Order: sequence, then structure tokens, then C-alpha cells
Amino acid sequence: MRKMLMLVISFLAVNAMAQSLHRFPDGWDKDMESKIERVLEQLTLQEKVALCHAQSKFSSAGVPRLGIPENWMTDGPHGIRPEVLWDEWDQASWTNDSCIAFPALTCLAATWNEHMSQIYGKAIGEEARYRNKNVLLGPGVNIYRTPLNGRNFEYMGEDPFLASRMVVPYIKGVQSNGVAACVKHFALNNQEINRHGVNVIVDDRTLYEIYLPAFKASVQEGGAWAIMGAYNKYRNQYCCHNDYLLNDILRKEWGFDGVVVSDWGGVMDTREAALYGLDMEFGTWTDGLTEGLSNAYDSYYLAQPFLKMLQSGELSEDVVNEKARNILRLIYRTNLNPHRPLGSFGTEEHALVGRQIAEEGIVLLKNDKKTLPFNISIGTHILVVGENAIKPMTVGGGSSSLKAKYEVSPLDGIKARVGDNAKVTFARGYVGDVLTVQDGLRSSTDLSDNRSKEELISEAVSAAKDADVVIFVGGLNKSSGQDSESNDRASLGLPYGQDDLIEALVKANSNLLVVNISGNAVSMPWVKSVPAILQGWFLGTEAGNALASVIFGDTNPSGKLPFSFYAQLDDNGAHALNAYPGGDDVEYKEGLFVGYRWLDKHNIKPLFSFGHGLSYTSFSFGKAIADKKTMQIDDTIEFKVSVKNTGSVAGAEVIQLYVEDVKSSLPRPIKELKSFRKVWLEPGEEQVVSMTLSKEDLSFFDDIKHEWVAEPGDFIAHIGNSSTNIKSKVRFVLE
Ligand code: GLC
Repeated sequence: MRKMLMLVISFLAVNAMAQSLHRFPDGWDKDMESKIERVLEQLTLQEKVALCHAQSKFSSAGVPRLGIPENWMTDGPHGIRPEVLWDEWDQASWTNDSCIAFPALTCLAATWNEHMSQIYGKAIGEEARYRNKNVLLGPGVNIYRTPLNGRNFEYMGEDPFLASRMVVPYIKGVQSNGVAACVKHFALNNQEINRHGVNVIVDDRTLYEIYLPAFKASVQEGGAWAIMGAYNKYRNQYCCHNDYLLNDILRKEWGFDGVVVSDWGGVMDTREAALYGLDMEFGTWTDGLTEGLSNAYDSYYLAQPFLKMLQSGELSEDVVNEKARNILRLIYRTNLNPHRPLGSFGTEEHALVGRQIAEEGIVLLKNDKKTLPFNISIGTHILVVGENAIKPMTVGGGSSSLKAKYEVSPLDGIKARVGDNAKVTFARGYVGDVLTVQDGLRSSTDLSDNRSKEELISEAVSAAKDADVVIFVGGLNKSSGQDSESNDRASLGLPYGQDDLIEALVKANSNLLVVNISGNAVSMPWVKSVPAILQGWFLGTEAGNALASVIFGDTNPSGKLPFSFYAQLDDNGAHALNAYPGGDDVEYKEGLFVGYRWLDKHNIKPLFSFGHGLSYTSFSFGKAIADKKTMQIDDTIEFKVSVKNTGSVAGAEVIQLYVEDVKSSLPRPIKELKSFRKVWLEPGEEQVVSMTLSKEDLSFFDDIKHEWVAEPGDFIAHIGNSSTNIKSKVRFVLE
């Protein structure tokens, strides 16, 4: 009881803190631009050029002569990367930089709760601030085009509207600490295969309607102070210096006034970097120099070669002045901002924020016969099976790998939750990736086990026969090809023979819960025979406690899938059209029809649909109504729908509104998410939920006119609690 009380008190503290989001005194930066100009006038050409490229693996020069501070970047989107040696990727084995590992952003997206994004951003920003970093290299908002993309776990799903709504509060939370969010990877970095060179071919409608919205929201609503260019090419130009993306769209159309940072090693040419929108070059392994040659930094494209082109007059000094202005603005917004809060690091508050997000992001995919929540009585025997029940997940996966202060494994979380009220035993079940080493960091335990697959399965099966309850914890694990950076998965299936094991377990004991730990969809050939399935994400420091809280009913799950689970790979557009991974070029032949948009168009039933997630309670929906039948173009239309908790426990539901343009001059998806509301209801409680649409929500991008168009005519609002569970439809006319 005391622990619960402590938890409640800390929770309230976290929320109070989150409400008091630190706001800078209004107008604190009113004279920032004039200060920037005064500094610029004093800078030598060499000092301006020095601002534009790295001086170390994760830092760039300031102006020592004038006391203008350096810029210090840090990965990543889920937590603050351990300190590295000056010119290395490896961690420097400091002893004061073990961070709180927050859940992967896929989990954050699955909460469908913008408040979770706000407290996430604030907390991770405090960790960066305390570590004296002024640029956080995250969040990532690349769209899930294929379930094989190795880095999907770092992003926010398949739908541009959900990603746009969820990324904005994260950015504001980070930047409330005087730390810049650096939104990545701009743009079209939707696969890891050949990521350094693949040229993406995509039509403008798809670019504007699917792949850009989350970046546009980041800039125009989130006020992002930094954007990271992607490695890949678009229109045969590298995204780190891409005239169309960076000058035409980001700067001119969206009004971006922050800095464009290259991805590490994403710069390939001085002239293009100078003219096509890049401000800061990081991580380059310059030609003429091999990787690791110390102090290659002076040979960076935006270093000596850039200086020479300026000195020779081949480039006007205005080119470097514009970059220097953007970089000085970054410094004034961060390191020179006198109102910055102090940050905090590795705190219980941050761990609780992570736990709260994890608990709210876990998705209950299936729960036949009310298998969950497990009720524990004295003497219950719980068998936990699977390597992911004991495998540390915060190390690995590429640049988002972390040195966490601690990490509660699912097995430890389950043991801690049940205490002496039940017997918890463990069987390995399968052997996958026994030791993760990343950038000099080792996952804490070596999980080597030399037993054969048969021995492991028979041990688990015989243990299952004696148990009252079996919890299988498997999935992917951020090792190579299993949801990790720089390589994609080779198939949709679970690795290491998990499917056979699950089939054997459910035969031995039908009271089985399968917990899938992953950042991506996986196929589930055993889906019909397993009564209960949870989608657990890479949940970070408090993983085991969050999972146990859901499994035993302390938390009523309310997560909803931010992407579709396909029954088979060819149910996904990119794979059906053989349009992935491409070669030198990859053509997005499925166009707008990504995720549920493809499934709707081809009437394909997903394994689990976008927006799907069950609860331990039940909800009923009233009939949705609109406040008008005909909407004027500059008016809005409001939909109301009553939702009632018809079950016996409190819970949350996410009401989703998808818009159908009945007849349009250009092809459109059947329906598209354009609003959602998460509501918490006590048993028996009923609420009327209101959602309002404007013409922007009805528009499509006309790539001939190059503008957003809302065409008059019939529309239908589909309102429900997943993309395939529509409760009511309301037809209306746009004048
Ligand atoms: C990596 C990633 C990027 C990361 C950067 C620094 O290659 O693409 O997301 O922030 O380099 O580690």
C-alpha cells in the first residue's frame, strides 16, 4: 500500500512538473536578431566557416575569441547517449552519464496521448540539459512504409496525422529546457538498406500528403530549432544538401529559421552543401582521408574546401553569413539563453515518466475468455518463458543505444509485482542474441546457453504443463536485422524459432499470454490458438514494471497500434508491388497507399489494424452527429459522439475520426485519420466527445497547382475505435 501511495505521490509530482512547463519570459529574445547581427559583424571568415562543421564526433566550434559557446549534440530520441571519446563512436566509459532510458517513440505514438509527448519531451530535454548538450538528435518521424525497416522502432508509425500530432508536444517539451530538438531524418529515409545512397523516387502528392506532414508540423507547430538531413537521395540529390527539400520547401514554404544539420557522414559535396541548404556538417569521412584519421575535421567539405571557395570569390560571403546566422540563432536559443532551466538527470521522476508512457503505450491485441488480467492467488505458479524476458534492450539498435542507469527486465518486473503471492519460474525457451555490444557498451549479462533448440523447447513445454499461467516474452531485440539501424529485417516472421515454441507452449497450456517486444509488426501464425497477446515495445528503464502493471491489471491497457500488423508481407503495398528495397533507385509505387490506406484500397484484412487496441473494460458508442449537414469552405464542422464505459473497471478509449472524400478529381485513400480523442471513463461513466474539422482536414495536395485543395462535394466522417472498427458514419457536404 505504501509503495502504491509513493507511486501516486510521485505521479502527482510528475504531472505538476509537467503542467508547469517552463516558459521563457515573453519576448526574452526580442533583441536576439540584432545581437546575432552584431556578433556576425565581428567574425572573421575563418570563424564563420568553423561554425559550419564538426570539431569532434558530436560537437562544433563556437567562437573562443568572443565567448560564443560551442554546440554539443547528443543522440538520441529515447535517452541521452553516453559520452564518447573526442573522435570515436565508442563510449568513453565515464561514470556519471548513465541515463534514464525512455520507451521507444513507437510506444509513445501508441499512447495516442499528446500529454505523454509533452512530459516525454520535457523529461528527456532535462536529461540533455543537465548533460550540457544543446541539441538532442531526435525525434525521428519517418513514416512506416515497410514493416521491415530496421529503424521503425525510433519513429511514430504509418500515419502522417498521428505522427504530426504526437511529435509537436515532444519538441516543445525538449525545447522548454533550452535544448534544440533536431527532427530527423529529413526526408524519405524509410529503409536502412542502402540508406547512404538510395535515390527515392516519389510523386509530389505522396511526398506532401504522407512523408512531409510530420516534419511540417515539427517546424510550423513545434517550432523545431533544428532538422537533420537524411542520408538518402531525393531527385538525385543527397537530402543533406537538397535544393528542393531544404531551400524550396523547408525554408521558403514552411519558413524554417533553425539549423539544418547533416546526418553523420551525409555530406558529399562542398558546393552543394554551400548552396543547397545545409548549415552544419557532422560525421564526414572525407575523401582523401580514411575514417578515424585524427583531426580530419579541417578537411570536411564545409571546412577548408569551403573556406577556399569563399576566399577565391567562387562563393559569395553571403552564403556563409546565412549559415552563421542560423547557427548563432541556435546558440542564442540554447547555450546563450539566460532563462534556461537547469535540467536534471537520472531521476526517479524521469523513470516514472518513462513508466507512465510505457504503461499507456502497451497495446492489448487480443484477450479471449478474459485471460487477462491474471489474478494471482497464493500458490499460483507462473511460468515465464523467452529470452526477451531477461534480455536487456536499452543497449543496441544503433545510434539510439543507451547506457541506462538501470533496466527492469520483464521477468524481474513480474517477480517484483507478485512478490510472495505466487511462484514464478523461468524457462529460456529459445536462444537468440546472447550478448549485445554497441559502441563499447555491453548489455549487462551474457545470456549464453548451449542447449539445443529441442532441449530448450522440451524444458519449456514440460514446465508449462505444471504451471497455472504461462507468459511468453519474445519478439525482436534490436540486434542486427531485428529492429536496428543500418540494416532491415529479412522477413516479417519472428526469429530464433519462436513460432514453433509458441505453438508447443499453447498445446501444453492454453492459459498463455504472448508478449511481443518489438518496434515493428511481426507475423503470428499462432494467432488463433493463443488467447492473449500484448504488444510490448522497447519500453526502456521501467520495462518490466510497466509490463507487469498491465499483465496483473494495475494498469488497464489503452494503447492503440500506430501501424498495421499484416498477416503476410505482400499485404503491404511496397512489397505487393515489389517496390522495396530497390537498387540505386527505390520507387514508392504504392504512392499515397501506405499502411491502412493500402489495406482499405485492396480490401485486405490486417492481422491487427491501425488504431486497434483492447481494454479490460468495454465501451459503447452512441450515434455520431454533426452540427451541420453542409459546411461552408471557411467554416468548421463539429462531430459529437457519446462514449460510455460499460464495463466494471476504469479505462481509456481513443475515439478516431477518419475522413472519406466521396468523389474527388484526383485519387484519394478511402479514408484518412484526421482527428482523435482519448477519454478516461469510470465504470458506467459516459462522455460526449467533440471533434472538429476544417477545410485543411478535407484537403488533398494538388501537385499540378502545387497547393492544398478542398474540393466541394460529399464527405463521410467514419468514427470508431480503430481503422477497421467504425461505429458510425456521418455524411456531410462541403459547399
Ligand atoms: C546516425 C543516425 C542518426 C544519428 C547520427 C549520430 O547514423 O542516422 O540518426 O543521430 O548518426 O549518431
